[in-house]
Amino acid sequence: MTPDEITAEVVQSFAGCSDDRLREVMQALVRHLHGFAQEVGLTPEDWSRAIAELTRTGEITDEHRQEFVLWSDSLGLSMFVDALDNQLPEGATESTVLGPFYVPGSPLREYGASIAEEGEAGVPALVHGRVLDVAGEPVAGAELDVWQNGDDRLYAVQRPEAPEDHLRGRFTAREDGSYAFLAVRPVPYPIPYDGPVGRMLETTGRHPWRPAHIHMIIRAPGYRTLTTHVFDAASEYLESDAVFAVKPSLLREFVARTADDPDTPDGIDGDWVSVENDLVLAPEDDG
Ligand code: BEZ
Ligand code: FE
Repeated sequence: MTPDEITAEVVQSFAGCSDDRLREVMQALVRHLHGFAQEVGLTPEDWSRAIAELTRTGEITDEHRQEFVLWSDSLGLSMFVDALDNQLPEGATESTVLGPFYVPGSPLREYGASIAEEGEAGVPALVHGRVLDVAGEPVAGAELDVWQNGDDRLYAVQRPEAPEDHLRGRFTAREDGSYAFLAVRPVPYPIPYDGPVGRMLETTGRHPWRPAHIHMIIRAPGYRTLTTHVFDAASEYLESDAVFAVKPSLLREFVARTADDPDTPDGIDGDWVSVENDLVLAPEDDG
């Protein structure tokens, strides 16, 4: 059999699949997989090497570590799928990757409260703005679910000794759509690179770093749930994010402030920063 005959036979083997979508996906997968092997002239040695990396990917993945998603992120597939899914109306805030460090069930916190449950987590950062619809009207009651790393580069889930709710929290937008919380200035950090993805990055001459950012998911009835970041516009790696997740519209200036600033939030007695970030939600069934 020629390679083309093999492809045709395997594609045909799915012809009886009664689920239209599954049949379409499986047949296209086979065509593209075989086409890929053809294009690069895949050798048995290449194939064995790939299988070994996939096996290792399975072995390293557990409820705390998702190496398959890391492959998707580091090969740009997560952002590609996101781009296909998100034809946004004019003015709506853009989405970006969820990442592996999201933990559902963060505590509800009051307007303006701190998400840091340990001292010395970093330079205090007041994050504030409004949640709006595309017409500029406030989305009262919208929920903001936020999480970030500390200036040790780590998310609390990466540190078993950290308080469970450190550097994460949920906030509710007020009647005028306003929200505020006290974070710390995020710092760049490397995606986990002690596994197959790290090996791929190293052997291909890529780095594992992400620019500094704070994660947010914004939910409100009648609106499309928005998973996004606020990027520090002054961060390193904005031009070479390891997971291709930077969108220029998501960059914000973290403005330097001093303790004698009249707007200094309670409990801060040194330098701090503030960042203003309005969030514009798309209606649920638009686009
Ligand atoms: C993150 O931003 O938390 C992240 C996203 C993709 C891969 C690794 C980390
Ligand atoms: Fe992150």
